[in-house]
Amino acid sequence: MDARSLWLILTILAACQSSGVAPRLKLNDGKEVPALGLGTWLGFTKDGGRVQLKGNEIEKAVEWAIDAGYRHIDTAAIYNTESQVGIAVNQKIAEGVVKREDLFITTKLWNTHHAKDAVVPALQESLQKLNLTYVDLYLIHWPIAESEDHKLESTDYLETWKGMIEARDRGLTRSIGVSNFNQAQLDRLLANTDVKPVALQVEINLNLQQPELLAYCKRQGITVTGYTPFGSLFPSRAADDAPLPRVDDPALVAIAQKYNKTVPQIVLRYEVELGVIPIPKSTTKERVEQNIDVFDFKLSQEDRDVLKAFDKNYRVIPVKHWKDSIYYPFEKN
Ligand SMILES: NC(=O)c1ccc[n+]([C@@H]2O[C@H](COP(=O)([O-])OP(=O)(O)OC[C@H]3O[C@@H](n4cnc5c(N)ncnc54)[C@H](OP(=O)(O)O)[C@@H]3O)[C@@H](O)[C@H]2O)c1
Ligand SMILES: *[C@@H]1O[C@H](CO)[C@@H](O)[C@H](O)[C@H]1NC(C)=O
Ligand SMILES: *[C@@H]1O[C@H](CO)[C@@H](O)[C@H](O)[C@H]1NC(C)=O
Repeated sequence: MDARSLWLILTILAACQSSGVAPRLKLNDGKEVPALGLGTWLGFTKDGGRVQLKGNEIEKAVEWAIDAGYRHIDTAAIYNTESQVGIAVNQKIAEGVVKREDLFITTKLWNTHHAKDAVVPALQESLQKLNLTYVDLYLIHWPIAESEDHKLESTDYLETWKGMIEARDRGLTRSIGVSNFNQAQLDRLLANTDVKPVALQVEINLNLQQPELLAYCKRQGITVTGYTPFGSLFPSRAADDAPLPRVDDPALVAIAQKYNKTVPQIVLRYEVELGVIPIPKSTTKERVEQNIDVFDFKLSQEDRDVLKAFDKNYRVIPVKHWKDSIYYPFEKN
């Protein structure tokens, strides 16, 4: 074998083992989604306020992410980050790092645009901010409708779904799905439409593993994207009453050492092995890179059992001020 062939083989081997590439999963409409994405919501402060965007931090995070191998980015109209996502994505396309068709961009319809005829204009506004001609996935963010002045409204999500179908038929989004729907709401949607959602985005983390909902979605061929994948792992974000574990938990640290990974990587890997698509958010370069480096190892059944035991049916995001909506999706206590 000559030196050039050897070099070529070594290069291919190195590429195959590169851990910063998420495999792609098939959606029920024939499209594909990368098995991990970058979140771009800035989150709540510990006292319930909204964290404010600082400078171009989301733009930087998305650029670092694409350089690290992410091909899936999650945003929403309500996050106020669509413009920065758009700048970063268009920049990386212009640099030739990726092509538009390599990327999977998700955005979401806010509660104030649930009327059937409000959906297409809302997505058009998002596309303008993103500076894109289409997104890959458009989600109904919540089953709950609200007026501009935050009053609950009774618009049925079945009406909203008709608007979603129209948005897809117009080519503004490749696929459509829902977020924060419970199983009964999904059942009702499926019974009343010919167009199945391709994805459900819900909270999934160690304290909220939702095995029944995951099994239901698997039976229905609906992929599950897991938001707030770290739950209450980091003390800076954990409520005082949040169950354990924290990131320094001895059982988690022992598992991390065994695989030469960090505790956050063990948590993300566990979710991937549950069949969930985690979308961790970070605006720290080293963490953005670390979080996608979870595709070069596999947890043992014994270790998965340790992680399973942290499931406490505890929600980080219950949004209790919507509990009087007839479409409130969670337990009301
Ligand atoms: N559909 C919905 O209703 C809904 C609701 C909530 C969230 N989401 C989506 O899900 C995404 C993720 O959820 P989330 O933002 O709530 O929470 P998350 O991704 O579970 O946690 C984000 C926090 O973890 C920190 N972090 C990330 N990686 C880390 C690492 N390797 N080591 C230490 N700390 C790390 C981040 O800090 P730094 O950024 O400072 O590094 C940030 O404070 C959101 O951004 C959004 O896109 C959707
Ligand atoms: C939108 O993206 C195009 C490239 O597709 C770029 O040339 C243009 O400057 C961008 N517009 C804005 C307002 O950023
Ligand atoms: C452990 O992981 C670190 C960081 O990814 C890496 O630099 C180091 O080479 C790894 N050590 C072993 C023994 O694999």
